Amino acid sequence: MRIDILSVVPELLESPLSHSIMKRAQTRGLLEVVVHPLRAYGLGKSKQLDDYQFGGGAGMVMMAEPLVNCIEHLQSERTYDEVIFLTPDGVRFEQSMANRLSLKKNLILICGHYKGIDERVREHFVTLEVSIGDYVLSGGEIPAAVMVDAIGRLLPGVLNDETSALSDSFQDNLLSPPVYTRPAEFRGWRVPDVLLSGNFGAIDDWRHDQALKRTADRRPDLLDS
Ligand code: 6GU
Repeated sequence: MRIDILSVVPELLESPLSHSIMKRAQTRGLLEVVVHPLRAYGLGKSKQLDDYQFGGGAGMVMMAEPLVNCIEHLQSERTYDEVIFLTPDGVRFEQSMANRLSLKKNLILICGHYKGIDERVREHFVTLEVSIGDYVLSGGEIPAAVMVDAIGRLLPGVLNDETSALSDSFQDNLLSPPVYTRPAEFRGWRVPDVLLSGNFGAIDDWRHDQALKRTADRRPDLLDS
C-alpha cells in the first residue's frame, strides 16, 4: 500500500512514521509513505500557499492551485482509491474506517492548516473528509500520522503475531482485558489466579468477562452497537 501525504509542515510527520511498527511496515516493503512538502508547489518567488479569505474574516486559507498541482501530479502517476482531507468537520475516524482503508492500494492524505483549504478543492478533488475526534488540532499532520499508524498495522505481515490486530480493543467492539507479566507477585499484589491456572478455557472466559466489565464501565456506548 502507498500513502502520499501533502503537508505544509512535513517535519511533523518524520518521527511518528520512522520507528517501531511503522518503520517495520516500510522496511518490509508492505507500506510506502511519501511526504510531499507543499511549499515546493507554492506560487511565485515567495512560494505562496495561503491567502486572505473572500468576504473577510480572520485566518488564512490554503489556496487551491498549489494543492491541485500536487494532487494532479500524483494522479498522473497512479490511480488513487481515495483523496482524503483531514479536517475537524470530517467523518469520525474509527476502527471500521481503518479496516476498510487498509484494503486500498493508493491513498492521498491532505493535511489542512490555517483556516482550512479553498472549498473548490474539497468539491472537485477530495473524495473523503476525515476527523480523528471532537477537538481541534493545529493542523492535519498529527491526524495523518494517526491514520497511517492505524491503517499500516493492519496490513498483512506487519504485525508478527497475526492474531494480535484481531484481539485489539474495538475490533469486536470490546475494550481489551487487563494483562499481566512476571513476577506473579509484586509488592504483595498478585496476578489473578486463573491466569496461572493453565486452564485455557477458564482463561478465555475470564478475559471475555473482564472485557465486558471494562467496556460496560468505560464505554457503555460500544455495547449498544
Ligand atoms: Cl483531521 N484536523 C485538525 N486540524 N483538527 C482535528 C482533526 C483534524 N481531527 C480532530 N481534530
